[in-house]
Amino acid sequence: MRTSLASSALALALAGVVSAVPQKVDEDHLYSSRLAKRGLDADGNFNVSFFHINDVHAHLDEFSSSGADCTNPSRGCYGGYARVKHTVDELRPLYEDSLWLNAGDEFQGTLFYTYYRGEKIAETINQLGFDAMTLGNHEFDGGDDELGEFLLNLTFPVISANIQSNHTALNQTIIPYKIFEDQGVAIIGATTPTTRNIANPGPGTRFLDVVDSVQACIDEIRATTDIKRIVALTHIGYAEDQALAAATSGLSLVMGGHSHTPLGDLHPNPQGDYPTVVQGRDGHDVFVVQAWRWGEYVGYIDVSFDADGHPVSYHGGPIHLDNTTAQDAALQAQIDEWRGPFEEFAGVVVGYTNVDLVQATCQTEECTLGNVMADAMYEYRLETSEDRPPDFALINAGGIRAAIEAGNVTRGQVLTSFPFGNAITELTFSGADVRRLLEGCVSRVNQFNGEPITSGFQVSASVRLRYNPALDPGERIVSLLIDGEEVVDDEDYIVVTLDFLAGGGDNMFELTTDYVPLDLQDEVLIRYLGNNSPIDAEIEGRFEATDELPGPEPTSSAAPPTSTRTCIPRPRVTGL
Ligand SMILES: *[C@@H]1O[C@H](CO)[C@@H](O)[C@H](O)[C@H]1NC(C)=O
Ligand SMILES: *[C@@H]1O[C@H](CO)[C@@H](O)[C@H](O)[C@H]1NC(C)=O
Ligand SMILES: *[C@@H]1O[C@H](CO)[C@@H](O)[C@H](O)[C@H]1NC(C)=O
Ligand SMILES: *[C@@H]1O[C@H](CO)[C@@H](O)[C@H](O)[C@H]1NC(C)=O
Ligand SMILES: *[C@@H]1O[C@H](CO)[C@@H](O)[C@H](O)[C@H]1NC(C)=O
Ligand SMILES: *[C@@H]1O[C@H](CO)[C@@H](O)[C@H](O)[C@H]1NC(C)=O
Ligand SMILES: [Zn+2]
Repeated sequence: MRTSLASSALALALAGVVSAVPQKVDEDHLYSSRLAKRGLDADGNFNVSFFHINDVHAHLDEFSSSGADCTNPSRGCYGGYARVKHTVDELRPLYEDSLWLNAGDEFQGTLFYTYYRGEKIAETINQLGFDAMTLGNHEFDGGDDELGEFLLNLTFPVISANIQSNHTALNQTIIPYKIFEDQGVAIIGATTPTTRNIANPGPGTRFLDVVDSVQACIDEIRATTDIKRIVALTHIGYAEDQALAAATSGLSLVMGGHSHTPLGDLHPNPQGDYPTVVQGRDGHDVFVVQAWRWGEYVGYIDVSFDADGHPVSYHGGPIHLDNTTAQDAALQAQIDEWRGPFEEFAGVVVGYTNVDLVQATCQTEECTLGNVMADAMYEYRLETSEDRPPDFALINAGGIRAAIEAGNVTRGQVLTSFPFGNAITELTFSGADVRRLLEGCVSRVNQFNGEPITSGFQVSASVRLRYNPALDPGERIVSLLIDGEEVVDDEDYIVVTLDFLAGGGDNMFELTTDYVPLDLQDEVLIRYLGNNSPIDAEIEGRFEATDELPGPEPTSSAAPPTSTRTCIPRPRVTGL
């Protein structure tokens, strides 16, 4: 069932027969859309179609491939809830038994959230007519009260089996699972327990073990109903979804989110099959699906269940929404109107700088705007991390787009300088790998994969790095201190960076999908400006070229670790 040119042509031909079906769909979808008649077949199999979306992150409107506002349509525009609505409204009537599900992280990602918080998101997703939604970690970014008001306004059920809260609004609205009698399907929700550390849930809100909570619901559903088709709607990440499928008995399908994982043939660089098939604890297949992020795809899978509720076959694939996909005109008109007040919002003064914050030199040397941004990210994790403090921040110069002149700094300037809506994230490396990472940055060749790094870099004040550009790539570091100390090969270091880079952007890191997006870069800078204005940034030798030669290896792996550092926790740094 691979999409090829020929099958796409077939798909288009079929699309004409069926109705005006969106064109960027794979052949599986069109094949099944002809099978509009549902019910039990001769073998007793029952078909249900699942449409799902996850991690829209406030992308109510269409966006460019970077995720920023689509200001240049000739380069392509993707997603937007008006396209999602048109697509789902058109397809669902073709299926007798379908469900439409949202796997969480509606909040955080554009000005639609920054400015309106949950209000316009609620108004939009109510119009989308979801059958159920689970909660993502970002739904807790504004705390329980903000989330509670949002949940009270939703007109569809919100499910999460592992959340327990004594907050009145949360307690009233969140249910562990929902039974859809018409389809004979039960859907159990689950939310990442890491929400405690990466968002702002209140003290009375608890996140229980996902596997235990989901299995307890499966057992309850089996004991108290005759429902056999049991599926999970989760916000825990792709790896955790597969682990959940393998550790439980009785699930047939897991629709997930959180890790922003592209699956399936339509994506140019998929990180797994759509669906990914996992064996459950009882030996039966479980299908695991996800639809990347931002609403660029609508997930779609059509599952045939046997009489015991086990999945026996599927059709489907994620549906791509690009500038050839029609928009729901009424919803798009509302979204356009909501944009209006942003102009005023963008004019708000968020800080003051005594000096010009320079961007032009960021690609080749330490620059003041890079210093401020890296320090803001470092300070943000210093203040919010519940684990140990970070060691340093590392960002790409390519993400710094415009200078900020001395004087008042507005929100609009911050957004112009950092327009991508990238989220802060943390990665942990051994000291030896920190050295390779920064060696890659000064050599412009990634020392893990040997490929070029496509951007300059900037670091926080905790770094002192000297390198000799005349030496061979891979051997340029002359000296490296973090927090004034030599880097110790065997010790762990926490690096604050951006989700874009963690995901392989600019090839600065090795591509990983195992990271958690935290607050957005622009919000973190605004917070820093609020705490630290007026800004007096200067060039202070965080990294600089030299013609010196490297000294003897400071911590050769053969040398025994210095006893004073062994097992002594790093002191908590209290300020910058
Ligand atoms: C259910 O879907 C399968 C494909 O997944 C199809 O072969 C079968 O004919 C369908 N059955 C009914 C009753 O629609
Ligand atoms: C649609 O997007 C493509 C790139 O994906 C672009 O080449 C084309 O110009 C866009 N069309 C319009 C009408 O903007
Ligand atoms: C909830 O609905 C009320 C009344 O329509 C509205 O004033 C409020 O802004 C909404 N809040 C959220 C978070 O949706
Ligand atoms: C709501 O509160 C009741 C009583 O404390 C508790 O049993 C239940 O689990 C709570 N529900 C949620 C979703 O927190
Ligand atoms: C909710 O639980 C927290 C933590 O146990 C407690 O501090 C708080 O007082 C409780 N609130 C209510 C309304 O019961
Ligand atoms: C700077 O912003 C303040 C408000 O924060 C305003 O009173 C002042 O006039 C502004 N200065 C200039 C030069 O725009
Ligand atoms: Zn998430």
